[in-house]
Amino acid sequence: MSEHLTYDVLIIGSGAAGLTLALSLPEHWQIAVISKERLDSGSTRWAQGGVAGVLDETDSIDAHVNDTLVAGAGLCTESAVRFTVENSASAIQWLIDMGVPFTLDGIAEQGGDHRYHLTREGGHSARRIIHAADATGLAISATLIERAKERPNLHLLHQYIAVDLITRDKLGLDGQGCVGAYFLDKTTQQVVSITARATALATGGASKVYLYTTNPDTASGDGIAMAWRAGCRVANMEFNQFHPTCLYHPVTSPFLISEAVRGEGGKLLLPNGERFMDEFDARGELAPRDIVARAIDHEMKRLGADCLYLDISHKPAEFITQHFPTIHEHCLQLGIDITKEPIPIVPASHYTCGGVVTDNFGRTDIQGLYAVGETACTGLHGANRLASNSLLECLVYARSAAAHINEMLDSAKPIPDVPPWDASLVTDSDEDVVISHNWEELRRFMWDYVGIVRTTKRLLRAQHRAQLLRQEIQEFYRNYRITADLLELRNLVDVADIIIRSALTRKESRGLHYSRDYPDALPRAFDTVMTTKRQNELGEL
Ligand code: FAD
Ligand code: SIN
Repeated sequence: MSEHLTYDVLIIGSGAAGLTLALSLPEHWQIAVISKERLDSGSTRWAQGGVAGVLDETDSIDAHVNDTLVAGAGLCTESAVRFTVENSASAIQWLIDMGVPFTLDGIAEQGGDHRYHLTREGGHSARRIIHAADATGLAISATLIERAKERPNLHLLHQYIAVDLITRDKLGLDGQGCVGAYFLDKTTQQVVSITARATALATGGASKVYLYTTNPDTASGDGIAMAWRAGCRVANMEFNQFHPTCLYHPVTSPFLISEAVRGEGGKLLLPNGERFMDEFDARGELAPRDIVARAIDHEMKRLGADCLYLDISHKPAEFITQHFPTIHEHCLQLGIDITKEPIPIVPASHYTCGGVVTDNFGRTDIQGLYAVGETACTGLHGANRLASNSLLECLVYARSAAAHINEMLDSAKPIPDVPPWDASLVTDSDEDVVISHNWEELRRFMWDYVGIVRTTKRLLRAQHRAQLLRQEIQEFYRNYRITADLLELRNLVDVADIIIRSALTRKESRGLHYSRDYPDALPRAFDTVMTTKRQNELGEL
């Protein structure tokens, strides 16, 4: 008999979005917060640069809105951008109240007014990024986990991986709505059903679909794939952001060199030591990410170089070690002293701008199902996310979703009985090698054919491979007992297929999607909206 648990609210994901949602709900609700690995296993823990917001009297809401719209290349939903930016200061104040130790500026350090140091990143016209040195995500994650552990109504379950959502129509019941999800308990290998009156997906992005990424292993697009399979709209998935500066080193796991390094004066260099960014954009190193990543890709291909360089060594060593202690230490361990020499860098897959379509309350197309954080497509990022707007989005939308969930819970439909997971027709696989090979193949062809510069021919090649893999994985899923690796691969291949179809649908170049066959932007911007029923549609969110 499989286990069954029930709560008022089920939150899948324990990053900035999931924990903010949990901590913003009243303490009389019983809430499950679930992570498929450790509680800090998502991208949040790795964020470096900081959280963007209007925090200084010399800055303005209009300026932050405008920078976001410019970076988004005409595809942002302006009302979502304004909603986010207007709520930025209060969301950041909430983090401060939770106890996140943001870096103070010189005045505050000397006992003056309590002011925070604000850094700058590409595409921002002002200093507006609050940060905890260069390990902002670690500070946020550790603080929110500590606060969550203090709340008796929060049930923090880790090593549980969601398999699929449970919806009323899947149960053959009247009306539509989400009533929970099935999870594989990775410790016992048993499937558990968890039901709730409201379910939120806070499962992060899908950058793991590419071979080279700044993201942790958890970023396999699980929430996006589950919502899509359940019938939600998923939009703008062709806009995968490549961060321009991931450390290039043969023996380290992926490590980001924060955009704040460029914000504080870092220069991008060719292998011969020459600067090149001014030839691509008047904003030089501080142009939006899509432009910088494409320029680096172009120069690497032109020169046949394995990497380019980012140099901050012209700044005083004390400034560098104070602002970038984590990056300094990490590089030093690999024999690179960033106070004295340039850092080898390459672009890598970093952020999923598209996702599950939501409104300003995080509501999806399915009643009782919410999506917040990187999993969601709120309309904020359009065709290219502005640096440090992601953590902000996690906070703002998780807080507004909490307000909405709190209001609707009393009137929510009672939870129906759900059948236990049926594993009677499957056997243990004796061919796990198929899974590991398919992982590798998928991520490699996505990197080679659906990367920074695309062509229709390459996309079609990738589509053909994705469809073959998808058939193979679906067959595996039907016949063998599920494992965490199989579940993630199944999600990744669904997401890869959506990315490729979205990219093929977009017959223009805009923001992060650059096609050699369609190098110009169309006069009017459309969202790419996919559902299980209506494929390849252009429309509005
Ligand atoms: P995550 O933090 O990724 O959390 C996802 C959670 O969902 C995890 O707990 C995971 O275990 C869980 N999960 C996933 N699938 C399942 C499943 N099937 N079942 C159960 N649990 C599941 N953004 C900024 O704004 N500023 C920055 O400075 C910045 N720096 C970054 C640096 C790096 C190296 C990276 C990788 C990203 C950075 N970003 C930054 C982006 C930002 O960190 C992320 O977009 C954001 O943290 C996402 O938060 P989240 O809560 O949506 O998801
Ligand atoms: C960085 O520090 O460069 C990452 C910022 C972001 O992804 O928003």
